[in-house]
Amino acid sequence: MVAGAMKIVFHSPATNAAPWIAEIVNAFPAAQVWAWTPESADRQADYAVLWAPTSAFFDSQQHLKAIFNIGAGADGVLKLANLPPGVPIIRLNDAGMAVQMAEYVCHALFRFARGFKALEGNAAQSLWLPHPPIERKRFPVGVMGLGDIGSAVARAIVAFGYPVYGFSRSLHHVDGVTTYAGQENLAAFLSEVRVLVCLLPLTAETESILNADTFSKLKPQACLINVGRGKHLVEADLLSALASGQIASATLDVFREEPLPAGHPFWTDSNITVTPHIAAITVRRESVAQIATKIRALALGETVAGVVARDRGY
Ligand code: GLV
Repeated sequence: MVAGAMKIVFHSPATNAAPWIAEIVNAFPAAQVWAWTPESADRQADYAVLWAPTSAFFDSQQHLKAIFNIGAGADGVLKLANLPPGVPIIRLNDAGMAVQMAEYVCHALFRFARGFKALEGNAAQSLWLPHPPIERKRFPVGVMGLGDIGSAVARAIVAFGYPVYGFSRSLHHVDGVTTYAGQENLAAFLSEVRVLVCLLPLTAETESILNADTFSKLKPQACLINVGRGKHLVEADLLSALASGQIASATLDVFREEPLPAGHPFWTDSNITVTPHIAAITVRRESVAQIATKIRALALGETVAGVVARDRGY
């Protein structure tokens, strides 16, 4: 053991730790790096790199200088009651996820707006039924959440010529996007939107925000794309809105219970597309490179991006 070496612990119960450890060692060859286990709990680290941690982990770590969440949403960390007070929790900023998310959301949008489901149905019957180009103004898109990822998604959609609206807690500027901020402007935002994309962080304020009242304010024949968190959505309200035709189609990547249980009605509803929380996956190399840059900046007393405001919840 090297006296005085930096100590970094990795803890993500559902992840194979070995490639992460190798990547972190590559960034900090002189550091002590290990995967947390209950057996190694006495070993104290300076920095934690983690995803969906256990509370036993925080019971064991008394000397952390910073906690790095290897995802964009930090709700899985913030929900733990025994987080050490005063230790910064730092989430990823983009780190290769924004382009994946833009790709996923554009795919779901185009599938809806260009009528791919009907085209596939026609092709299955060997039917050649061309139709004229769509009018993009009939598919105004609303992006809820305008952080690094939400803004990138909104810009990607703007580039394809769809009208784009944005909603966030505090006012953001995104070129080509009409933005709204705050709960008091939510109804005005929703009234402009037919394709609703949820990229909000999960907080006490945003939990269950995708509900019957929200859906009723959208333009008719709406489309929902939820790539935020499962708890943003009131599932029964979506099923009712689909049954009534208020919502025509939904693409869902996140669920209240993951994996989505067998027998859940979302699996079999022909107007719902289910994907297994893959819209934007953490890219290991870029994430570790970003964390390494932030650790070096913190060591120099500099401020870093992505520090979670615990009172705000993201
Ligand atoms: C994934 O869900 C993330 O928050 O990065």
